[in-house]
Amino acid sequence: MTFNRPYRHKHLLGTEGMTADEIHSVLNAAESFFDVSRRSVRKVPTLRGKTVVNLFYEPSTRTRTSFELAGKRLSADVINISTSSSSAVKGESLLDTVRNLEAMQPDVIVLRHHASGAPHYVAERSRSHVVNAGDGTHEHPTQALLDAFTIRRAKGRLDGLTVAICGDVLHSRVARSNAHLLTTAGATVRFAAPHTLMPVEAEKLGVHVFHRIEPALEGADVVMMLRVQRERLAGSYLPTTREYSRTFGLNEARLALAKSDAIVMHPGPMNRGVEIDPAVADGARSVIMDQVEAGVAVRMAVLWMLAAPAEPAP
Ligand code: NCD
Repeated sequence: MTFNRPYRHKHLLGTEGMTADEIHSVLNAAESFFDVSRRSVRKVPTLRGKTVVNLFYEPSTRTRTSFELAGKRLSADVINISTSSSSAVKGESLLDTVRNLEAMQPDVIVLRHHASGAPHYVAERSRSHVVNAGDGTHEHPTQALLDAFTIRRAKGRLDGLTVAICGDVLHSRVARSNAHLLTTAGATVRFAAPHTLMPVEAEKLGVHVFHRIEPALEGADVVMMLRVQRERLAGSYLPTTREYSRTFGLNEARLALAKSDAIVMHPGPMNRGVEIDPAVADGARSVIMDQVEAGVAVRMAVLWMLAAPAEPAP
């Protein structure tokens, strides 16, 4: 299989500004990498001799593991650095850390940071390709791409679909990246959140804003639930988690408002019993584990697009 590679940028910092062609070209490449992870030998030589550094200043299970597996399945050398074991705990600045890593000649730096804009700051000062693996409350482009991959596989398309993104939208980089990507790809996006958890001027992202979950779910093709981000809830945004789950949690009764073939998504980690009922999370319409599997293929596609010399995908 050959690909045209219209994603001709040095970095992947966000889905804001990506064109529909770029989005679909990443998803098409991910389709070709998807099967690699299901073979008995889960490795291709595409990035042999390349080095990927995963630099994570925030906790992560899925994102860090899937970037690591993506790099390894492409035969790259992969180094993982997390804050608790790096010199960041001794007070070294982000830029000093990156400069020192760059002295060791990596090809790609995958960065997760609690400050919005950190990957952009590094990208402007770096020789390497930079991939944003989540910056503060700003963007998480590979999550949106793996979500789009999962939706496209389940529904056969993105355009014309109605996607309800529900929960703690205010703190969610996943919601922002999905809003940019899905509206560009021709989907209708609805945000549903209590007033205190809805960003001001959310409409400017091109989404429809709801302050109750029920009308947002009506007729939706895709229901994407978001985690209540307790670590970013500095003020009193919520009364109690019990009240939140009673008014905003996704249960079977609420899901019945969506289309009968609607799929249920969650980027993880889930607060079971808070934003999502376990029966729904584990139910027949849940594609949450498909999202996790898609994460490896999409990150293989992204690493390949940025770092591979003009080589074909497998
Ligand atoms: C998300 C994140 O870190 O932004 N998780 C993920 O990457 N799968 C969402 C979250 O933390 O709630």
